[in-house]
Amino acid sequence: MEIQKEKEGEDIPRRKFFLIVGWGAFLALIGGVIFSGVRFLFPNALNEPPRIFKLGKVDAFPEEAVSYVEEHKVFIVRDEEGLRCVSAICTHLGCTVNWDDQYGKFLCPCHGSAFARNGKVLKGAAPRPLEWFKVVLTGDEKILVDKGQVVDSNYIYEV
Ligand code: FES
Repeated sequence: MEIQKEKEGEDIPRRKFFLIVGWGAFLALIGGVIFSGVRFLFPNALNEPPRIFKLGKVDAFPEEAVSYVEEHKVFIVRDEEGLRCVSAICTHLGCTVNWDDQYGKFLCPCHGSAFARNGKVLKGAAPRPLEWFKVVLTGDEKILVDKGQVVDSNYIYEV
């Protein structure tokens, strides 16, 4: 009888101990999942480039040329009519298009889409023309692009 009492005395604290450890681990797991979910919604840094940005002086972009601005993935198109800005992002799956000076068109290296100088699709998988963005000159003669304002391909800022 005395031996059984000793075992019963030890079993009760052990069960409580494992119950507390089990619930503690379960609550810690649920807390970690909730914390991770909330943390995911509020990232530390927003790595998206700004939608409105200034480029260099207009004279830095040669006339009658299509100049690529890698940092913002746009082309600045200058001709006798003025200044325009076109997206370098292919409308198929988002590859960066290249300007082919020899043939005067934009070419996508991924799936072979080709775009005319005015951004219209010439061939390939691209479903839509390239996007054009509003561009103006600031008071200090610098080019200001607003990627938030998509404009018609006929839009020209007269220089
Ligand atoms: S991403 Fe340009 S053709 Fe597919």
